[in-house]
Amino acid sequence: MRVQQRAAQAAPAAVRQRARTPAPPTLTPAPAPATAPTAPRVALPRPGLRDAFPTVEELVGHTPIVRLQHLPGNTTNIVLAKLEGHNPAGSAKDRPALHMLKEAERRGQIRRGDTIIEATSGNTGIALAMAAAIRGYKLKLILPSSSSAERIATMTAYGAEVILAPSMEASRDMLVQMEREGLGHCLDQYNNEDNTASHYIGTGPEIWAQTGGRVTHVVSSMGTFGTIMGTGRYLKERNPAVQVVGLQPSEHVSIPGIRRWSPGYVPSLYKPEGIDRVLDLTAREAEETARCLARVEGIFAGISGAGAVSAALRLSAEVDDAVIVAVVCDRGDRYLSTGVFNAAAGAEDPAPCHAAEFHSALARLLHGHAGPHYVLFTAGAGCEGGEGEAAAAAALKGAALLVRKFVRDTWDDPAAPSADWQEPGHGAFVDEWVSEGLGV
Ligand SMILES: Cc1ncc(COP(=O)(O)O)c(C=O)c1O
Repeated sequence: MRVQQRAAQAAPAAVRQRARTPAPPTLTPAPAPATAPTAPRVALPRPGLRDAFPTVEELVGHTPIVRLQHLPGNTTNIVLAKLEGHNPAGSAKDRPALHMLKEAERRGQIRRGDTIIEATSGNTGIALAMAAAIRGYKLKLILPSSSSAERIATMTAYGAEVILAPSMEASRDMLVQMEREGLGHCLDQYNNEDNTASHYIGTGPEIWAQTGGRVTHVVSSMGTFGTIMGTGRYLKERNPAVQVVGLQPSEHVSIPGIRRWSPGYVPSLYKPEGIDRVLDLTAREAEETARCLARVEGIFAGISGAGAVSAALRLSAEVDDAVIVAVVCDRGDRYLSTGVFNAAAGAEDPAPCHAAEFHSALARLLHGHAGPHYVLFTAGAGCEGGEGEAAAAAALKGAALLVRKFVRDTWDDPAAPSADWQEPGHGAFVDEWVSEGLGV
């Protein structure tokens, strides 16, 4: 007792206090379970461990591919979406941006700390901004003023300087001027074969591997032509029968990221022999498909990527036993500020569509409406054959199907808007309940 007191006096205050704290009750150890869990083994740091973790640069590419479950309807075809929005900066453009930068570096044309300048409709700018940040470059981006607010803000977030021009053509002219004045090095995505090469070494081989070499069609929206030329070239080298289908906006239509180039501005990456077919795309078809993909398939695609899916659905109506891959170049969240995905967007009754859009319009319409009856409007050339898909969709929802056929003796222009058909004296509608005949 005396020894304890003396020890307490000699010890510093904190220690004395601790000595006065009552001793914790003795814990009886729990009986060991029959199979005691073993503590996870933690690998200790070792030389080379850091290389076991990917850098953000190494995450570019290797994007997933998914099968559409509902929109293709009753078909022997497989329609796939290659989700390029899974790239780290959110679009297919991560591939060319990084590849162009690295190749220019390898050739000694640029080095860390230099200023890069580029004209871009948005996604390339974001991708370049990420690549420039990673590899230590300054970046000035010239954008058409129609670019969405999200894109501009994202580029700025990566540290790029943004300059707005009235149009895409004007931004390219401004770029040439800035380069002449020595204000920076231009990677020139429109005429840079490294753009095409990035898809030749990435997107193409990935699609080939992901489809086990069974791809029959690849569909891509076209801007610089890098995606379609590189991907198409690789796939055709593996199987010359693969059909390469490109999409451009219809006349006077504006779709972010893609162009119907005016003569004199067509990028040199374009090689007509590499593309089997070019389809026109309206903004309405692309936007409706974007909403439908999100609501029906759970795929949140950007507008031009949704357009590629829409064209894939059109192709699917023409062929059997095909494996059709649509390149979905970015995600829908890049377009939120445009209002395309607002709750009310597209809620109005579908307006007449071109014959060429008929099958993709049909798929969107059927999945968007949950009524007890479906009405299928069909107007001859380019539109026939939709009854099967309509019947299958109707059966799925327990609905009945009414086909409203437009009867006309002659058909001059299958691509003419259906609004023309409704003019007096151009024919007559015949209603037919066909559910029974179609086995619904
Ligand atoms: C949204 C979007 N879709 C499609 C494309 C077309 O891709 P490419 O330039 O490879 O033809 C682009 C190009 O910038 C784009 O931004």
